[in-house]
Amino acid sequence: MARAKFYLTTPIYYVNDLPHIGHIYTTVVADTVARYKRLCGYDVYFLTGTDEHGQNVERAAQRQGIAPKELADQVVGRYHELWQTLGITHDDFIRTTEPRHAQGVAALIARIRERGDIYLARHSGWYCSSCEAFYTEKELGEGGLCPTHEKPTEWHEEENLFFRLSAYQERLLEHFRQHPEFIRPASRLNEVVRFVEGGLKDLSISRVTLTWGIPFPEHPRHVVYVWLDALTNYISALGFGSEEEDKFARFWPADLHLVGKDILRFHCVYWPAFLMSAGLPLPRQVWAHGWWLKDDKKMSKSVGNVVRPDELLRRFGADPLRYFLLREMTFGNDASFSDEAFLKRYNSDLANGLGNTAARVLAMARRYFAGRTPATSCTANVVKDKAEEVVRRYREAMDECEFHRALEAAWELLATVDGYVNEKAPWALAKREGSSSPALQRILYNCLEGVRLVATMGLPAMPQACRALLAQLGEGDPLRLDVALRWGGLATDQALGEEELLFPRADAAEYFGEARMSEPTMTQQASAATTAAAAEVQSLIGIDEFARMKLVVGTVKVAERVPKSSKLVRMEVDLGEPALRQIVAGIGTHYAPEELVGRQVVVVANLKPAMLMGVASNGMVLAASEGGAPRLLSVDAPVAPGTTVR
Ligand code: MSP
Repeated sequence: MARAKFYLTTPIYYVNDLPHIGHIYTTVVADTVARYKRLCGYDVYFLTGTDEHGQNVERAAQRQGIAPKELADQVVGRYHELWQTLGITHDDFIRTTEPRHAQGVAALIARIRERGDIYLARHSGWYCSSCEAFYTEKELGEGGLCPTHEKPTEWHEEENLFFRLSAYQERLLEHFRQHPEFIRPASRLNEVVRFVEGGLKDLSISRVTLTWGIPFPEHPRHVVYVWLDALTNYISALGFGSEEEDKFARFWPADLHLVGKDILRFHCVYWPAFLMSAGLPLPRQVWAHGWWLKDDKKMSKSVGNVVRPDELLRRFGADPLRYFLLREMTFGNDASFSDEAFLKRYNSDLANGLGNTAARVLAMARRYFAGRTPATSCTANVVKDKAEEVVRRYREAMDECEFHRALEAAWELLATVDGYVNEKAPWALAKREGSSSPALQRILYNCLEGVRLVATMGLPAMPQACRALLAQLGEGDPLRLDVALRWGGLATDQALGEEELLFPRADAAEYFGEARMSEPTMTQQASAATTAAAAEVQSLIGIDEFARMKLVVGTVKVAERVPKSSKLVRMEVDLGEPALRQIVAGIGTHYAPEELVGRQVVVVANLKPAMLMGVASNGMVLAASEGGAPRLLSVDAPVAPGTTVR
């Protein structure tokens, strides 16, 4: 029999910002669901990607003096890198600047037009460029601010193409009544129902004040509204509108769109209405999670309170961060991010909890049974009883996207194993009866089997660590969860794997010594008189942090244009190292390669490598940028290559 399919998506991320914890969260959740569903036997298709058009991206690129596509290429590289580090197992990554996407958008618009749902009219309203959405006077917050971003909106007046959204009010409400599972959690369903009942106005779906977008079919002066453009990614990635619609036929409709609560309306009102108009099936479910807050505000670039993942990933690797995000946030509600909370969970749940309990029982098996699992299993005991209850709760919670509850249940089993070891004191038994004692074998079997079950339940959340733990138990990757979660799966008299410390305890003093270099302390934050002042403090760096940057003078030895780019120049620079350094810089519109050779430049030498239009750049040359024109920094007398700049 053919396997059931499961199509799930993340939102596609704007490329005007580098990823922060909030972005990572949706993707980690999606990856956890994808891994879980695969283990449940589904044919999973998992899509993520980037949203590259619109005013936000256009303006961000302008500020950096580069073309929007160039900005997108840079930021997309960062997303790819990060998803790899985090172990994200997406099947496809769509960029809205790809031709396959434009084709899908054109095909969707053609269907909506055929239905008679598109017309041209003049339009005015308050526009928030961060949301890329119009607001009515009533919806604006105090002082005319955007209700989501709390920043000023702009008055826009233009001739736009409109979508007859108002015609779908009743059909949408009927759909919500028939399919209450369409929007989760239930509180969000109520919110959307209230919004739709309040009356739907037709939606403007084109822009003329903007050029960075997909040209609107048959209206070349207009570009497609970025949300109509972006939402279509969920079908364009499956080949909708192309000659190859097999994937679309297999996987559409989506089984799960994962989104943050700020983009609920777009996914639960506009998107289903577009699909209804186009005569396409609606997604089965939209799950809206809450926000990661920092200092009680939504973490966002415009507020300036974002936490980037780099430092945590460097110190702890992917799994502890994945675990923390899934365990700390009650899915659907907001949660606060702090280093204190992260470290506390890391030490209590991972270093002491999983790491320690596993190490303890594995060490006993190694000692008593010469590095093998016990020769006898055990079918009636308290660990087994607890395991069966926990597995049931774990499955229910995972099926309901309640990851915090699923992990909480699994960790209860760990606590049972721990208590059981203390109570049974196998070390005393080993002393009294020796290693061949059947009771000793049964007790340790129960402990190891309990740990195996926790590791198996933990696999979707912490794939690397749990796989490593299973390997220490002598077990491979499970293929089917229902089989793997049955008591008694651990093979008897099987060689254990190599010993490995999974989660070394983190020392808080040392950690905060390091982490606080890049963040103000709690007391500093509390003493800051206003949020604005706190933001000021946050942007200051200490001398130690500055010292981490390696700035040196280099001499350009080779310079040439990067093919197909007007801006990028590839240089080979002498930094006083044994080999020349390849550095790519966006200075080609103002410097000819010939005039660069022989010049001394200032280089950030310890920047992580980046790929720019397929060329690796191992550092950055510094330049002042005035109105988009780069002016290279230099020294006023020649110095030896590699001389430090301070
Ligand atoms: N490009 C649109 C989505 C288009 S989907 C067809 C967009 N992009 S975004 O980059 O601004 O946000 C992407 C996702 O990150 C959203 O689900 C958003 O809710 C989530 N987060 C951004 N900041 C967040 C937090 N501080 N906390 C949790 N998630 C938040 O919107």
